[in-house]
Amino acid sequence: MLIVKACEFELSSLKESANIVRNLGNLEYRILKIFVSSIKHHEIINNQEIVSYSNLHKDRIEYGLTNLLKLKLISKTEKGFKLVTAGLDVYALKNLVDSEIISGIGNPIGIGKESDVVEAVSESDQARAVKFFRIGRISFTDTKRKRSFEKRKNIHNWLLINIEAAKREYDFLVKLKETKMNISTPYFRSMHSIVMYRIKGFRLVDYKLLPDPKEILNKTFEQIKIAYKENIINGDLSEYNIILDENNEIWIIDWPQAVTLDHPNAEFLIKRDIQNVIKFFKRKYDLQIDENYYTQYILQK
Ligand SMILES: Nc1ncnc2c1ncn2[C@@H]1O[C@H](COP(=O)(O)OP(=O)(O)OP(=O)(O)O)[C@@H](O)[C@H]1O
Ligand SMILES: [Mg+2]
Repeated sequence: MLIVKACEFELSSLKESANIVRNLGNLEYRILKIFVSSIKHHEIINNQEIVSYSNLHKDRIEYGLTNLLKLKLISKTEKGFKLVTAGLDVYALKNLVDSEIISGIGNPIGIGKESDVVEAVSESDQARAVKFFRIGRISFTDTKRKRSFEKRKNIHNWLLINIEAAKREYDFLVKLKETKMNISTPYFRSMHSIVMYRIKGFRLVDYKLLPDPKEILNKTFEQIKIAYKENIINGDLSEYNIILDENNEIWIIDWPQAVTLDHPNAEFLIKRDIQNVIKFFKRKYDLQIDENYYTQYILQK
């Protein structure tokens, strides 16, 4: 089994955020907290508002704001100040470290279209993956996820959209973890980040050759079926979201866009998931696959 390539990319911004967490002053943290607690209702806040939300003196607030601006955790606009992604990262990370969920972050594990995933260790030295949502970072015209989040809640703030996505994925992971599925255990959510079990494996797309593709295909369908029996459909299934681990076990990841069977597009989405998996195995491994057989296998529950 050969891996096509290891994950190579820069993740400087999260590393920078981790450094900032280590050195962040109490004043700056208190002000950052005000931004975070008000993002739901006020995307932009000015000095007077910060004064009224805290019992800090206005001069200290001004000093703290200058530092937060220098650290690029907030930005200045005509009407006041605005929290930016790096600010939310720092706040979320500090929360994870202060709550003793992780002791710090390490190297990048994966970069998705809509997230940065990094390794971390828990306080008890267990391997963890931390996923930071980045919806809106790159503007995909066909990003269905982005559109559906926006439409449903009528949200225009990307930070809120990412927090919402993390909540959704976390809740699905919790539900799926109760089944017999191989699901990365969700340990904690902090704002737009999720701490979960770190799977020791690679995505199907990363393997140059799988030793027994038919067996892997069947194992993948077993996993899809367990979720479907619980009325849950991933909705974004492909060789990019399926991991084969070192024990030859299949794990399906990436659940923020998942839907339940009562969703109006449920039938379309489960069929598309099934087809995506079959397409991959047909194309890469030239397998003869009876699509009807697998569709029936899943749909009959
Ligand atoms: N629990 C985990 N254990 C190990 N690696 C993980 C874990 N979760 C995610 N990864 C890695 O991080 C990458 C990105 O994660 P994920 O697919 O959840 O994010 P995404 O941004 O939504 O992806 P997409 O590009 O499919 O939209 C994965 O492809 C995988 O390599
Ligand atoms: Mg993915």
